[in-house]
Amino acid sequence: MPSRSESSKSTRPPKGRIDILSMGSTGSGKKSRARSRKAGGTAPPGARDVIPPDDPWYIDPNAFPRRAPMRERLKFCLKYAVLAPSSHNSQPWRFMVGDDHVRVFADRTRALPVVDPEDRELTISVGCAVEHLRLAMLRHRLAARVEPLPRADDHDLLAIVHVEPRPAAPTGEQCAMADAVPLRRTNRRAFDARVPHEMLLDALVRHAGALGAEFVCITDPRERRVCAELVAEADRVQFASRQFRRELASWMHHNRSLSQDGLPGFATGMSELPSLLAPLVVRTFDLGDGRAARDHDLAEHSPVLAVLGTEHDSVADWLSAGRALAAVLLRAHVDGLCVSYLNQPIEIPELRSRVRRFTPKIAAPQILLRLGYGPSTHRTPRRPVERVLVHTGL
Ligand SMILES: Cc1cc2nc3c(=O)[nH]c(=O)nc-3n(C[C@H](O)[C@H](O)[C@H](O)COP(=O)(O)O)c2cc1C
Repeated sequence: MPSRSESSKSTRPPKGRIDILSMGSTGSGKKSRARSRKAGGTAPPGARDVIPPDDPWYIDPNAFPRRAPMRERLKFCLKYAVLAPSSHNSQPWRFMVGDDHVRVFADRTRALPVVDPEDRELTISVGCAVEHLRLAMLRHRLAARVEPLPRADDHDLLAIVHVEPRPAAPTGEQCAMADAVPLRRTNRRAFDARVPHEMLLDALVRHAGALGAEFVCITDPRERRVCAELVAEADRVQFASRQFRRELASWMHHNRSLSQDGLPGFATGMSELPSLLAPLVVRTFDLGDGRAARDHDLAEHSPVLAVLGTEHDSVADWLSAGRALAAVLLRAHVDGLCVSYLNQPIEIPELRSRVRRFTPKIAAPQILLRLGYGPSTHRTPRRPVERVLVHTGL
């Protein structure tokens, strides 16, 4: 078995290469892990401020308009839906509110044709928004029924979430998960060595299973190392592609950007100056070796890697995977667990089949996550509900 220093040596970027993706304090490596424990991250401007009431992340559950017409109540629940995670924070969703339902559409103008040519991750992202909406409705005592892919002649209508006539009786766990929506973040920082208790991981497996997905944890250090190598290989392949870099750079923003979507530099641990330069640098240079070294280290030293997958690989499966992903992320947050993504091998068809090696039970791997405990991180921008509503003119 190679020692840690041997294995990280093999993926270290050559001297003299620009490695702006590692300039921030997302931090892999021993020193950085220690630093990250002490410092708690690179704060974006105003990060420690109280969330202002006009920020989409501000949700006061007590402000739910219980006696208002159903459309108003459903619009309130959409505040939870727009906080869902999405690939590159592209927020590829639109909602149409009816008297007793919400129609959920894919917004394919926000697709990522290079990294996600089939709109698989786009559909997963919309699935996350559907599950946020369902949990919000439950939290506010509206029984919800999700009808996936209701119209064969409308490929953009991915789901209708119906309000059932009877009032819902949410469990404490469901309420806690809904309340976790405005607190959940993707945490790209290095995690410490504490291993999550088996019972916590079992709860995640249960939640994914209830929504038709499988969740398989990889805790064995040798397996994690092999998986880390696959992630590093995927980074090199992706960053060698100019189209991939262009697409990624177009969603990257500097820390003070007023953009309501995309990836601000602080989300990957960048301070002010690197966040300004990063889009240009990423577009221009192949940073694959630096990225591979960093992700290898993050993957290898996260106490748990996990694959979320489905039995088949249809649009319906992607939607289920998204709903399961949202449930897993929210349940993890309730238990104090940090989660981040290492999807890159699943995004490359040849490598996706190799991910199955770790999880023979999973026919179609959809998402690769790392889990653990780490310092807190900051919220990324969102478009408010008004900007993603489809108006019927009624
Ligand atoms: C389907 C899907 C794929 C994602 N893939 C990655 C990924 O490969 N790498 C990554 O760092 N984040 C990934 N993310 C996380 C998003 O970038 C993140 O959700 C988005 O930037 C919003 O930030 P938040 O989760 O903190 O709200 C993914 C999210 C989703 C839903």
